[in-house]
Amino acid sequence: MSASIFNKEFLKSKTALITGGGSGICKGIAESFATHGCQVVIMGRRADVLAETCKGIIAAGGKAISVAGDVRLIEDCERAVATATREFGGVDILLNGAAGNFLCPTEHLSSNGFKTVIDIDLLGTFNMSKASFEALKKSSDAVILNISATLHYQGTIMQSHVMAAKAGVDALARNLACEWGEYGIRVVTIAPGPIGDTEGMRRLAPLGADKKMASEIPLKRLGSIADISNAALFLVSPAASYITGEILVVDGGQWLSKPAFVPRETWEKLNTKR
Ligand code: HXC
Repeated sequence: MSASIFNKEFLKSKTALITGGGSGICKGIAESFATHGCQVVIMGRRADVLAETCKGIIAAGGKAISVAGDVRLIEDCERAVATATREFGGVDILLNGAAGNFLCPTEHLSSNGFKTVIDIDLLGTFNMSKASFEALKKSSDAVILNISATLHYQGTIMQSHVMAAKAGVDALARNLACEWGEYGIRVVTIAPGPIGDTEGMRRLAPLGADKKMASEIPLKRLGSIADISNAALFLVSPAASYITGEILVVDGGQWLSKPAFVPRETWEKLNTKR
């Protein structure tokens, strides 16, 4: 990763509780927060994956601990907050990144399949926010940062479960930004586009679909994990202290764009007046 433009210590003495922090985008954010002085508590279902990620952060000079748990269970969320408070003195940043996804046409999706994604993404975000509230209230600089998506801005086939879940996450974030602003808690969201080398892309764009996707993005590439962690650093920084209830789309312009009526080459051939 190229050198950070952020002050290396701006998160010193802060604690971030990061769900889904064992792998992918949220692992990248955890590493990035840690290199800027933040103590990180990463939560996920796979203890071995979490342990490996913690090991890497500590080897790089950071402070990290893990809590194996499931965001669908409020008692696991409360245990994660209790661990963060006991080990690192509190929670300043809650990052809701745990998510579930798979491709499935709605007519083939079972009720439990739909519910499972709603439970991980939406109920999990509620559970973690609720469990962290008292700890965040005590922080002088509290932020809840949700990782959402852009899938629900349009119709995305085979993603009804995720569209519904992420739309709920966005609505909940707008609500909490209003309700908890008076406690000094900001609530902000990143909506990533397709990010290379992630489990999400392996699930949603298999069999080379990622290459076609990249060619159709205005900035002509997939996003990187660093693109998202840089946006996260900004949103949790004092530079964003008057931003709440906002969604920052980091997608290279993907969701805005649609195929051209004709390719540029066709326009050339048409000999249109220049
Ligand atoms: C159809 C499926 C399915 C599939 C599971 N189900 N996989 N249905 N197609 N591929 C159904 C099951 O049949 C079951 O319903 C129900 O979902 C629950 O499945 P379980 O395997 O019992 O659930 P669980 O062990 O809790 O696993 C949750 C999961 C799993 C979401 C299904 O894939 C998972 O743990 N994912 C976490 C990692 C992940 O998804 N990462 C990618 C995030 S990407 P029945 O009726 O049979 O009981 C992302 C990016 C979005 O979020 C934005 C991108 C731009």
